[in-house]
Amino acid sequence: MRIRRHFLCLSLALLTVGCASRLPDYNGQTLYMANCANCHGTYGEGDGAVTPALNVVLQDLRYISQRNGGEFPKAWLEEIIDGRERRQGHGPIGMPVWGAVFSQQEGYDDAAQARVSAKVDALLSYLEAIQIQSAAVTN
Ligand code: HEC
Repeated sequence: MRIRRHFLCLSLALLTVGCASRLPDYNGQTLYMANCANCHGTYGEGDGAVTPALNVVLQDLRYISQRNGGEFPKAWLEEIIDGRERRQGHGPIGMPVWGAVFSQQEGYDDAAQARVSAKVDALLSYLEAIQIQSAAVTN
């Protein structure tokens, strides 16, 4: 009986630790709609509500792979979206530095930074999922 109770406590403790260290399951589409759609448009086509105020024409985010010879340039996009490693003037002008924005929301310790990366990863997966591969369309 006693052993069984110890076992129960141990299992609960492990469960708690396991849950605490697990990253939230971020939904890329939800993050996109909350943070990106007002510029890049609901479907990524570049016609978000604030685009008239930007002095640039936004590229259609559904054709990134096509513009890149059919490959989804994940590492490059991660740098663009996180933005913190890019020196000023080398990232897209007018694009918020999302690594910094998400850090402000999450924090700066290791666990918080893991959540920042997880958000960027979820956005990358979403962008990859909306790519249009048809060779017939050029943009
Ligand atoms: C305040 C407006 C604004 C918001 C909000 C915004 N962006 Fe951007 N984004 C831009 C501008 C301006 C550019 C540079 C023009 C371009 O390349 O289309 C850009 C460029 C990009 C590019 C490079 C496109 C390419 O093919 O070169 C990606 C990818 C991108 N943004 C993703 C995102 C994601 C993901 C979010 C949300 C987390 C986001 N953007 C939110 C303005 C914005």
